[in-house]
Amino acid sequence: MSARVSARGRVEPFHVMELLKAAHERQVSHGDVITMCAGQPSTPAPAVAREAAAAAMADGAVLGYTPAMGIPALQQAIAEHYADWYALDIDPNAIAITTGSSAGFTALFLAAFDPGDVVLMTRPGYPAYRNTLQALGCRAVELECGPEVRFQPTLAMLEQWSAVNGGPPAGLIIASPANPTGTVIAADELAAIARWCAEQDVLLVSDEIYHGVTFGEPATSAWATSRSGVLVGSMSKYFSMTGWRVGWLVLPEHLVRPIELLLGNLNICAPAISQVAATAALGPQARPELEGHVQRYAANRDVILSRLPELGISRWAPADGAFYAYADVSHLTNDSTRWCDEVLAATGVALTPGVDFAPGTGLDTSLDGNRWVRISLAGATDEMNEAMDRLATFA
Ligand SMILES: Cc1ncc(COP(=O)(O)O)c(C=O)c1O
Repeated sequence: MSARVSARGRVEPFHVMELLKAAHERQVSHGDVITMCAGQPSTPAPAVAREAAAAAMADGAVLGYTPAMGIPALQQAIAEHYADWYALDIDPNAIAITTGSSAGFTALFLAAFDPGDVVLMTRPGYPAYRNTLQALGCRAVELECGPEVRFQPTLAMLEQWSAVNGGPPAGLIIASPANPTGTVIAADELAAIARWCAEQDVLLVSDEIYHGVTFGEPATSAWATSRSGVLVGSMSKYFSMTGWRVGWLVLPEHLVRPIELLLGNLNICAPAISQVAATAALGPQARPELEGHVQRYAANRDVILSRLPELGISRWAPADGAFYAYADVSHLTNDSTRWCDEVLAATGVALTPGVDFAPGTGLDTSLDGNRWVRISLAGATDEMNEAMDRLATFA
């Protein structure tokens, strides 16, 4: 019997999945779990989206394969979304609908980067960028982004990296608001980075999937400055539709056809019923419900941030958006995975260890994910208070 596993197939695990499994087991045995480890809303898709899906099923719609780039109505709805939110005029044909943004990243990395290409990302950062790039034979290189740069890259860091490494990288991924920190990059810094990437022929991949979930100024889009990069969007976060698996890419012209060909081969299309539901979720009827979720996240954020000092925590990333608090727990542990296991066992509260987002010690040991945890704010406000009560007894 052959037992072949490719070197590329040996990707890092997403540690939070282990925590979710343990949380599920605890729920079965104790029934008291508060899940603050999942990066997803605790609410269903907007009512209008669920109704649209139900109507399509009741009508006996075929719901077969769609065009690889997605149904035109959804491409159009997303183009209107950019006009509405950012005053950007985008050709619907430049928008590729993907199976969650996750499938969009895979297709994009394949379309834009060759094996060995260097793509910069932040540390801490979303682990699937690194793991997917590595599985495709590209080199994900982390830029250490601590409190002094608000956990986001700066133009100066990119210039310095290029000077030290004899030239610019092939690509740069930024996420704003970011996972795990929730931090938003300043609009002028984003514009400066987008301009530099365009000048240096660096493909800027701007992960904007948490747009809409911000607690101050709305986040700006990289396309407000330059259309040479790629925007990544998703129905998962603001639109509360994680499991429906719909995301999108907004593409410069040279990448449209390669992405269309790759998507057709890799996925054929995103789920048809979900595309119908997503089209409805982008309409004005869903807005009050979705804005209500953002108000709840803001209230939850206030609860968590105001109570972190009760755990002796004094350092956390600026939680400008998304639904996370990324907190330094180095006074409590130097092994965040074990600590999260212990917290779950003692209190029933499930948190995410920072090792997912900053594995290994790195150069700046104060950013070592073993010293940090990510707390999701996406649950009910009562749960936030209950979780903090329980954590205060443990810490
Ligand atoms: C920063 C970031 N990008 C992309 C994704 C992938 O999301 P999806 O595939 O559901 O669109 C996630 C999921 O948590 C994320 O946090």
